[in-house]
Amino acid sequence: MKDLQDLLAEGVVGRNVLVRADLNVPLDGDRITDPGRIEATLPTLTALIEGNARVIVMAHLGRPKGAPDPQYSLAPVAEKLGELLGRDVVLAADLVGPSAHADVEHMSDSDVVLLQNVRFDPRETSEDEAERAALAAELVALVGEDAAYVSDGFGVVHRAQTSVYDIAKALPAYAGGLVEAEVRVLKRLTENPARPYGVVLGGSKVSDKLAVIESLLPKVDTLVVGGGMCFTFLAAQGHTVGTSLLEQDQIDTCKELLAKNGAKIVLPVDVVCAAEFNADSPASVHPVDAIPAEQMGLDIGPKSVELFASALNGAKTVFWNGPMGVFEMAPFAHGTRGVAEAIAAGDSYSVVGGGDSAAAVRQLGIGEDRFSHISTGGGASLEFLEGKQLPGITALEESA
Ligand code: 3PG
Repeated sequence: MKDLQDLLAEGVVGRNVLVRADLNVPLDGDRITDPGRIEATLPTLTALIEGNARVIVMAHLGRPKGAPDPQYSLAPVAEKLGELLGRDVVLAADLVGPSAHADVEHMSDSDVVLLQNVRFDPRETSEDEAERAALAAELVALVGEDAAYVSDGFGVVHRAQTSVYDIAKALPAYAGGLVEAEVRVLKRLTENPARPYGVVLGGSKVSDKLAVIESLLPKVDTLVVGGGMCFTFLAAQGHTVGTSLLEQDQIDTCKELLAKNGAKIVLPVDVVCAAEFNADSPASVHPVDAIPAEQMGLDIGPKSVELFASALNGAKTVFWNGPMGVFEMAPFAHGTRGVAEAIAAGDSYSVVGGGDSAAAVRQLGIGEDRFSHISTGGGASLEFLEGKQLPGITALEESA
């Protein structure tokens, strides 16, 4: 697999370089609440700018329905990227249309153009290979056949989409610095991790994580489960969970996982509940066998934080994906903070994976440097740990 250093050595002066970045940042209206993913792509972009390339960036925001939707415009991202790079970033009004063509034509060396949300074009995410290839051909027409492609959006390498996969077959392709760094770190977790190896999983949906749980259980020493997904496990243990998030159709699978691997799985013993999904709804702590019928669990409780911390105590490797509760609301942030602090305080090789957990570390002010690595990939890092082939990586490996 060729990388950015190879590309720079080949020479990029005056050359169009099409970069796929993952700039899918959380927004509150127009305000970016965590610019972590934009910051993570700066080294690759800066290296290309300093190499006097003409840098054309492709990215998505959210999941628009294959048509322009102002709610998912990359405008706030273009502004923030310009601010962080300390130079103008031109936002094209389209992806491969007249605006993009005009903006690319007018570029000088070291200029940066950000193309509008790649998912506004339905071909980007199409399951039809020919449609995706047609979009890739239009992207090549935009940047020219002597352009290069750099894959720097680690958070999307698990997607077989045009800007990640098909384009890497249509242009000479190189791994960006971020993709390379993320792969290096995650390999350390899949190839002979230092033991004990603890994994902490949270987030809302157990169904999203069942595959990773099944594939990780034989490999880890401890699997700690918090967040909204813990309620399906608690129900599988026979508890009633009030109005908490519950995936009824996954209870049997959770029962089987507990029966087979119960000794490794650590679940909360108490939860913070409220009547409504609302920061002002009065919160109270309840043991998991006494969750009130009309209340929902929105965070793990203090005894669970202690239990999780002691389960991770002495671990030499820890991977954490998914918040323990609704950390965006102060009354339900203690569990996520407590578990993050416990991981940070240990001397393990600690990797935080996932947009939400990475955002939690930054928003709760825990100190990114207290973790060995904060991944920009959520689904991508989980699929990597599952041992799945990631289309964006395969395409780079296969690129001439
Ligand atoms: C993410 O947020 O994990 C990445 O940006 C990928 O987004 P997606 O799940 O919508 O493909």
